[in-house]
Amino acid sequence: MRLNLTADELLSTTRAVRKRLDFDRPVEPSVLKECLESAVQAPTGGNSQGWRFMVVTDADKKAAVAELYRNAWYDYYEPMDREPRSDKGRQLKRVMSSATYLADNFERVPVWVIPCMPGRLDNLPNLMAAGAYGSIHPATWSFMLAARDHGLGTSFTTLHLTYEQQAAEILGIPFADYTQCALVTVGYTVGTDFKPASRPPVETVTYWDTWGDEADFSNPA
Ligand SMILES: Cc1cc2nc3c(=O)[nH]c(=O)nc-3n(C[C@H](O)[C@H](O)[C@H](O)COP(=O)(O)O)c2cc1C
Repeated sequence: MRLNLTADELLSTTRAVRKRLDFDRPVEPSVLKECLESAVQAPTGGNSQGWRFMVVTDADKKAAVAELYRNAWYDYYEPMDREPRSDKGRQLKRVMSSATYLADNFERVPVWVIPCMPGRLDNLPNLMAAGAYGSIHPATWSFMLAARDHGLGTSFTTLHLTYEQQAAEILGIPFADYTQCALVTVGYTVGTDFKPASRPPVETVTYWDTWGDEADFSNPA
């Protein structure tokens, strides 16, 4: 089933879905394949196409990696669990609640997709790091957009990378030869209506010719 969202709807309503997931509904391999077919249409540096995608549904493997994820989450979360003082703080509090729910239920998410790149990307100079991550995350995001249009909810996560080597051993990913770049959780959503997120006006985060001055989009270019 496709939602056939418009491009604008797809781009503005593809949220991190953590609480509104149907843990009991399996995701058809054919649907994952279609989403991955969209993913590999994304650009890669020098058309290198080095991506590898590890799909994980095995319950034992998920249980073991979920433990690692939870350890990382609670190490990360506890220092941030303070009273919010601003709108951004309150938004953060909602994210934290949602992300805690995901952490507590990590292995219950039906599918994980782990985008990987060849080689170790640790300690690369910026040119190489930009090339490497820039050659996988456009595909990762295309996968997430395609998933949304299939009625699936995803969340881009990175925290299991705290224990990347242990996760690699559990999952059988050759750690010396491939870097895991994220872990995308995938499951059908409960309902399909999602809203655009609150974001700052783009003028406040965009500079035009002069760094530090808000962009003025009313001027003819
Ligand atoms: C680089 C990156 C790392 C992230 N890591 C995690 C993570 O480890 N766990 C998690 O629950 N969400 C993670 N997220 C999801 C963000 O929290 C989420 O995208 C953000 O709160 C905005 O929410 P939205 O996508 O619904 O707009 C990550 C997102 C990005 C881009």
